[in-house]
Amino acid sequence: MSNSPFSLLILLFYTIFVSAHPPEDTIYTLRVPTLEETSFDNLLSFGYYHKSCPLFESILHRKVKEWIQKDYTLAASLLRLHFHDCSVRGCDASILLNHDGSERTAQASKTLRGFEVIDDIKEELEKHCPRTVSCADILTGATRDATVELGGPYWAVPYGRKDGLVSIAKEAEMVPMGHENITSLVEFLQSKGLNVLDLVVLSGAHTTGRASCGSIQHRLYNYQGTGRPDPSIDPKYLSFLQRKCRWATEYVDLDATTPRIFDPVYYINLKKKMGLLSTDQLLYSDPRTSPIVSALAAAPYVFKHHFAVSIAKLGNIEVLTGQDEGEIRTNCNLINAY
Ligand code: HEM
Repeated sequence: MSNSPFSLLILLFYTIFVSAHPPEDTIYTLRVPTLEETSFDNLLSFGYYHKSCPLFESILHRKVKEWIQKDYTLAASLLRLHFHDCSVRGCDASILLNHDGSERTAQASKTLRGFEVIDDIKEELEKHCPRTVSCADILTGATRDATVELGGPYWAVPYGRKDGLVSIAKEAEMVPMGHENITSLVEFLQSKGLNVLDLVVLSGAHTTGRASCGSIQHRLYNYQGTGRPDPSIDPKYLSFLQRKCRWATEYVDLDATTPRIFDPVYYINLKKKMGLLSTDQLLYSDPRTSPIVSALAAAPYVFKHHFAVSIAKLGNIEVLTGQDEGEIRTNCNLINAY
């Protein structure tokens, strides 16, 4: 996908455009990922369920659409669930296991939502093709369909992930929670095989969804012990947030302008000092990431194209595909008893 003539054409056009109109006197270019970076060098494949569960993708699509039509906020929740799943022990649905001390019970998982969507899809699939489709594949495919529902890009998802047998709350606490500096974010993603471009592009998922006020209160009054708010917040936006966040349990949109649409306005907001999480806003002040923010803010198609590339990489992290690895759960919340 990343090297298709169409995408290359877009990038070529974009590079020429940016060279002709350099924003703020700087020329930014986005490198096209190489085939090696985006290829699936494991046993995932695009036709994996064609014979064993031909209805898989149509059931998936119908269910995701139904849920999102009832509650569009679930689309963002599925995206985040997928990120948290793949961040710990790879994309193995370990985040879905619901037992004492599992990832799902960690503090970092407290505001994760969307579990019921995956359970519902799984229940339906068990009727049509029992013990065939893994929960890890369901979550990965549902994330793609949810993104499309919001107006985001489509990407072909290769399948064949098995479900993991291990889920440990302590490991889930390693997932970034919005207080980190850019170096820790880069290092965290690097440990998963993702690079700085992936970090900035995937943070663009914050074009939708919300954060609890608890995640940003440290920015509002006494930032880093200064007794003052975070100076990188626009004053009007700051007073809006101070009014909105009287209680830690309230929620605020991650994209202050177009929260329901999958667009690059998230990056435009960062340039206006209107990033909600400090980790979002830092992307625009760090020299490793700010040129990428500027480039993505200027080009909607480049953002969507790269999002598809980076999230496909995310969905490929440490997947279990071997004969003796993992299992196909019959209930996404529990390891099989037999
Ligand atoms: C790498 C750095 C990242 C950090 C520090 C981060 C942090 C956060 C935080 C703190 C929240 C709000 C949680 C709350 O207060 O309830 C959040 C929400 C969200 N995150 Fe991230 N995130 C990161 C990457 C990602 C990635 C890679 C994705 C998906 C590809 C993603 C998708 C989302 C979405 C969609 C929401 C909104 C969820 C909802 O509305 O239910 N994030 N993130």
